[in-house]
Amino acid sequence: MRKRIVAGNWKMNKTPSEAALLIGELIPLVNNDNVDVVFCVPAIDIPCAVELTKDTNIRIGAQNMYFEDKGAFTGEIAPDMLKDAGAEYVIIGHSERRQYFAETDETVNKKVLKAFEYGLKPIICCGETLTQREQGITIEWVCMQIKIALLGLTPEQIADVIIAYEPIWAIGTGKVATKEQAQEVCAAIRGCVREIAGDAAADAMRIQYGGSVTGDSAPDLFAMEDIDGGLVGGASLKPDFGRIVNA
Ligand code: 13P
Repeated sequence: MRKRIVAGNWKMNKTPSEAALLIGELIPLVNNDNVDVVFCVPAIDIPCAVELTKDTNIRIGAQNMYFEDKGAFTGEIAPDMLKDAGAEYVIIGHSERRQYFAETDETVNKKVLKAFEYGLKPIICCGETLTQREQGITIEWVCMQIKIALLGLTPEQIADVIIAYEPIWAIGTGKVATKEQAQEVCAAIRGCVREIAGDAAADAMRIQYGGSVTGDSAPDLFAMEDIDGGLVGGASLKPDFGRIVNA
């Protein structure tokens, strides 16, 4: 039985003092030990988020990191900086990173390998555009993204990865995928992991759906066989996140 995991991706929202207020508001609403609850906050908010959640069920994650250990990479954040600040998870390859910051499947793979080196749990994002869906290449596309992201990992590492399937057309649009659409792709992702890493890894690996998830849509989505939780943007900044966690 896979433990469910619901993560909030705060994106570029909340200053440290705003983050402290929001965390205080959300702590009682997301108190559920049957679910792994993760807040992926802006890097500058990590220290205060770690401090404020230390006696709770909430874990803290970052939204990105660089794939080198240290050095002359102005503006980047190294994996050991995140680790030392108390982050346990890191989102890698979000479609916004790919679209606005030129991330590729290859840089995603380098970051995933580096995250494991430092004991950070990667939440790897994949997903198709509306055009790709209309052209009928969703599954091929997403499986290619995942195969490249996981290159060089052992089956044991793959079992520990979290994959977030986020159709780009569903992100921030209010147009949530149907539970059947989401399940179809999440099942295909698990099938592709089965091919490359075997049954144990495929059965253990957790797959989230992301894209306009709300407290209203979460119960149906999370009831699907291959959907083990969600990666939530807008609704993770509101009390509605509590309903999503408890769904
Ligand atoms: P929304 O929930 O705001 O659609 O964002 C989804 C997302 O991109 C989470 O990473």
